[in-house]
Formats: sequence, C-alpha cells, structure tokens
Amino acid sequence: MKLHDKRVAVTGGAGFIGSHLVDRLLAAGNLVLVVDDFSTGSLDNLAQHQGDERLRVERGDIRDLAQLTKLFQGVDHVFHLACRNVRLSLRQPTVVHEVNTSGTLAVLEAAVACGVKRLLYCSSSEINGTAAVAPLPEECPFRPETIYGASKLAGEYYALAFHRAGWLPVVVARPHNNYGPREHWAGICGEVIPRFILKAMAGQPLTIYGDGSQTRDFTYVTETADYLVRLLESDAALGNVYNVCRGQEVSIADIARRILTLTGSASGLDHLPQRPSDVLRLWGDATRIAALLGSAPSLGIDEGLARTVAWFTAHVPPTPENLARMTASAWENLEPEPWLLGPAGTTTGGQS
Ligand SMILES: NC(=O)c1ccc[n+]([C@@H]2O[C@H](COP(=O)([O-])OP(=O)(O)OC[C@H]3O[C@@H](n4cnc5c(N)ncnc54)[C@H](O)[C@@H]3O)[C@@H](O)[C@H]2O)c1
Repeated sequence: MKLHDKRVAVTGGAGFIGSHLVDRLLAAGNLVLVVDDFSTGSLDNLAQHQGDERLRVERGDIRDLAQLTKLFQGVDHVFHLACRNVRLSLRQPTVVHEVNTSGTLAVLEAAVACGVKRLLYCSSSEINGTAAVAPLPEECPFRPETIYGASKLAGEYYALAFHRAGWLPVVVARPHNNYGPREHWAGICGEVIPRFILKAMAGQPLTIYGDGSQTRDFTYVTETADYLVRLLESDAALGNVYNVCRGQEVSIADIARRILTLTGSASGLDHLPQRPSDVLRLWGDATRIAALLGSAPSLGIDEGLARTVAWFTAHVPPTPENLARMTASAWENLEPEPWLLGPAGTTTGGQS
C-alpha cells in the first residue's frame, strides 16, 4: 500500500515529530487531519502549510472517545503520536498515565468504530529503561524507569492486542531519541541538543546531568518521519514492532563537544547531579527495520547536528528571554501531585 491520496489522521500532529510527519504525508499527496490539544504542540510547527486545504487541524483531546469517533469518520489510516512527556511524569504521573494509556485505548477504539484500515502506534525506546543488552533488539526484558516509559509500553501492548484480536491492523514503531528543527528547547519539554545549541551560541556553560557518559541513539527527525510512513505502508510490518534508529550510540558529553565545535563556542561544561530516573544507556538494534525496508535511518550525527544548529541559529536567537526559558532541572518547578509530597510534606521518591 502506498500512502498517496489517502485520508490520514495524525494525533499529536502539532508536536515535534508529528509536524515533520505531516510535512512528509502532505508531500506524498495525502489529505491530513491533525488532532492535537496543543498542550506541548504548537500551530507554529504547521505554519509552513497555512492555506493548504489538504490539511485540517482540530483541537481535541485523545481521551475524548466521542470526539475522536466523530473526527475519525472517513479516515483511512491513523498515526498515533499524541502523548505527555517523560519529565512531566516525574511530578504529575497521573495525567501522563491518562493520556498515554487511556488516551491510546480511546484512539484504538475510535479507529475500530470508524473502520480505519491501519494504525501506527508510536512507542518509545524509553520502554527499555537502561539497556540490559546493547544494542537493544525489539524483544528483550523491558524495565521502564518512569511512568512515561511504562505508559508507552502499555500503549504498545494495547495496540498489539487490538491487532491480535483481529479488530484493527496495527504496526508499532519504537523511535529512539530524535533531534532536529522544531525540537522542544524551553521549559520542561526542553531537550538536550537544542539546549546545548542555545547555551553554546550564548557563550554560557552547557548543563550536563551526571558525568555525561549516558548514551542515546540519536536519529534526525525527518528520517524518523519517513520511516514511520514506510512502516505503515508495509504489509509485512503489520502486527510487529520496529526500532526506528540508526543503531549508533553517542554519549551526551560527546554531543556537547561536537556542538561546541560546530558553533565555535568557548562555553564550558556545567555538571549537575544526575537527573532522577535517568536512563543511562540507549542504543538500538536497527537490524529488523533494515531487513524489512532495505535500510535504516543513516544520517550521520555531524551532518544532523550541523542542520540543527543552522535551524536554531535562524529561528531561536539566544536572547536573555529565551535563555531564561531554559532553567536547569525545570521539572523541579512543576507542582507535584499531592500524594508525591509524602506524609511529612516533602517530595518523595528520589524527586528532590
Ligand atoms: N522526541 C523523541 O525523541 C521521541 C523518541 C521516542 C519516541 N517519541 C514518541 O514520539 C511521539 C511524538 O513525540 P514528540 O517528541 O513529537 O513530542 P511532542 O510533545 O512534541 O508531541 C506530542 C503532541 O501530542 C499532543 N498531545 C498531548 N496530549 C494530548 C491529548 N491529550 N490529546 C491530543 N493531543 C495531545 C501535544 O500537544 C503535542 O503536539 C510520542 O508518542 C513520543 O512518545 C519521541
């Protein structure tokens, strides 16, 4: 099946990866419906499509089954990306559970009710926790460190259960860490690469939690969007799980050094205590996706970082206002759910 001239819904389509997926689907000649509550996504991410009548954007909450069932009428295929993020789950795990798990169930139910032909569930490498084996194959013991990781794993199991029950053809994609244009840089959503870039441009020290030896398998976001499309198109992928990654691990300290070189910055490094529940090693095995599609994401880290630096240089200047939006350990300023305060009223469970 080719994704061309199809009616395709993208939950979370105003987000970082979702907006690149929308670019890719429109470029391939599809009609695209974005369902997003804009909790972390933004219309700015879709501004390049303003006036394109093939794109419809609906504000909606994926926990609202009745609304989803109206919106998915006539939709051929669904990419389910909407979620709440890992750092929110350190302080407000209940909402993360509700959106990522109950919300996923509602998306699956609405898809069945509306006769959707195929659904791609976008999971996350965070279901693994710190890699027990390296590189991580799709089948291995899962040990999520956070409610985010656990909720993404529940979503995978629900989606695959729908497939196995014969209710809905599903493929599960498990992206590893993405980076590139439009990546979140501010507040609790701020990710390491854009934060490093902005700090380097400003000549401020780059904040590293722990010693920087943590590794990630960084994938350039447009490649991820392309592989999500190709996975949904593949008949052989249905009912299976695929890592979407390059199969290369890079340490956070190494990323910092590369960004300092690329930006010509004289910034130093500022080491803070390790982040609570931080995953220490993530390195994906890309063998399965390469065997299915003939290749895996492959854009080298230096080229991807150079493109990302160029985008941030053009779009997010290191003004005092922007730098102030990148306070270190931003999740610590989030109001914790009351039970997290514990009996003595002090935050509990390694969150301090
Ligand atoms: N960014 C990464 O490195 C990465 C890595 C692995 C997996 N993923 C997965 O990719 C997907 C997209 O992640 P992202 O990085 O683009 O995050 P993002 O926060 O930019 O995108 C999530 C989108 O979902 C929307 N959303 C949140 N709650 C919603 C709700 N209740 N109803 C409707 N919309 C809602 C947000 O507004 C946002 O637009 C997620 O499923 C995530 O688990 C991301």
